[in-house]
Amino acid sequence: MSRKILFTVLIASLTTLSVFAQKKIGNETTAQKEQRMKWWTDARFGMFIHWGLYAQAARHEWVKHNEHLTNEQYQKYFDQFNPDHFDPEKWAREAKAAGMKYAVLTSKHHEGFCLFDSKYTDYKAPNTQAKRDLVRAYVDAFRAQGMKVGFYYSLLDWHHPDYTMDNAHPLVQVDTDKATYARLNKGRDMAKYRQYMRNQITELLTNYGKIDVLWLDWSWSKGEKHGKGEDDWGSVELLKLVRKLQPGIIVNNRLGLDEYADGADFVTPEQVSSKELAQYKGKTWETCQTFSGSWGYYRDENTWKTHRQLLDLLITSVSNGGNLILNVGPTARGEFDYRATNALDTMSYWMHANSKAIYNCTYAPPEFKTPDNTKLTYNPQTKRLYVHVYHYPADGKLILPGYRDKVRYAQFLNDYSELKYAASGNDLELTLPQNKPHYEIPVVELTLQ
Ligand code: GLC
Repeated sequence: MSRKILFTVLIASLTTLSVFAQKKIGNETTAQKEQRMKWWTDARFGMFIHWGLYAQAARHEWVKHNEHLTNEQYQKYFDQFNPDHFDPEKWAREAKAAGMKYAVLTSKHHEGFCLFDSKYTDYKAPNTQAKRDLVRAYVDAFRAQGMKVGFYYSLLDWHHPDYTMDNAHPLVQVDTDKATYARLNKGRDMAKYRQYMRNQITELLTNYGKIDVLWLDWSWSKGEKHGKGEDDWGSVELLKLVRKLQPGIIVNNRLGLDEYADGADFVTPEQVSSKELAQYKGKTWETCQTFSGSWGYYRDENTWKTHRQLLDLLITSVSNGGNLILNVGPTARGEFDYRATNALDTMSYWMHANSKAIYNCTYAPPEFKTPDNTKLTYNPQTKRLYVHVYHYPADGKLILPGYRDKVRYAQFLNDYSELKYAASGNDLELTLPQNKPHYEIPVVELTLQ
């Protein structure tokens, strides 16, 4: 055996060993997991909703941390909270029209404020001028539109009296020393906070019917002196509880349980560029992305992604076998800002015509090379290959490299109009009309042999 082969065999066996050696929490088989996750992998596109008291500050959902505000200083947002335009039916209609199949709402973000009616705190929406359980209204509205519903729940809590200090806490500064940590932690008891979380997650997963997704956020203990993770949250026990209460639920990967094979259902690349998404191919993943910089409503944030950027994120996700969850941060009055609504409208226009190239799709089989200036998605059930035309050819010629004898029919997806093609060597040469269809990125649908 050559040294190179020996080395490869060694690495391969080590990798296999480490897979076998990986710990497990439950006993679900791969096939069972695939079945449980099927609706989610088919859906491909969801809506994230970050909404809380921070919408009133309108300058980032981390405002309490960024400005080192105390509970007393932050209290004005609780007293003031009055979302008089809150209309979850409208949210759900907009999400559905945009082609999103599921939604995930912040039941509690890091600020600790609960949008739901929890028995375990007074710091909740029913005690504000909103006077009701906003999570229930959301669940009812999205379910009525036939969408799957999910909850985001922050493991961090910047309001709870038992939550101990860490380097992300508002009361901690960059130069906070040991003595100050100790002083701030006096009387705080993480064990009590862990129980609070378990109680609240039990409420969320018991009182609202079937919950499809749980998005827990986040762990940063690895390599950090003052971070938090698995041990602080009691992650293994928490995940067991979640699975017991909602056996079908899909859970993200931020409990800090990476060493377990089943410590999460999917990975969550956050705000990465579409170029970086290729590295997740082969994993089960969902990229979460904002329309602009922050997750919560940020009035003066002007770096909004263009329609083309949003489309590219969606297409690139699917062409690498992943999902996209796109975030809206409703205003303090409870509605989507006009910029968010515009963005959703443009997605809705594109999805109305092209969603067949998204739902139930994934990356193309390896024998199909990606033609220049395009991206490919593929529906394995119908055996349709979708060519997303990023740059419309001026001469109307689109070369499909090596596709000879592989295609039975070609048409635009947006209007099912036929596209002619001819063989040229091993390639096919597709003739596109001079006028680009009225879509930022038009899609050619190829029925394969
Ligand atoms: C980060 C942020 C948080 C946001 C989340 C969404 O963890 O802390 O504000 O909710 O990402 O992915």
